Amino acid sequence: MGVQSCSTRRNRMRPEIDHDVCIGDGICVDICPEVFEMHDDNLAYVTNANPGSELTDRVQEAADACPTSAISIHES
Ligand code: F3S
Repeated sequence: MGVQSCSTRRNRMRPEIDHDVCIGDGICVDICPEVFEMHDDNLAYVTNANPGSELTDRVQEAADACPTSAISIHES
């Protein structure tokens, strides 16, 4: 009995920035400001640690565009 919820079985995306590698290029923020943000220390930070699937492509694009490959995307 009860309502069956339709569970989404997609992997969740968890982007991370390695601050030892980030040089503050900022292209990640240009591509996906919903997830990445520059801070005063000139490094990018992840503001949305669990972006929805509608952002997957752009987070991946940002990771690909980062000149130092500082962005890694984990699946959980
Ligand atoms: Fe840093 Fe790469 Fe973004 S260098 S600011 S994580 S594009």
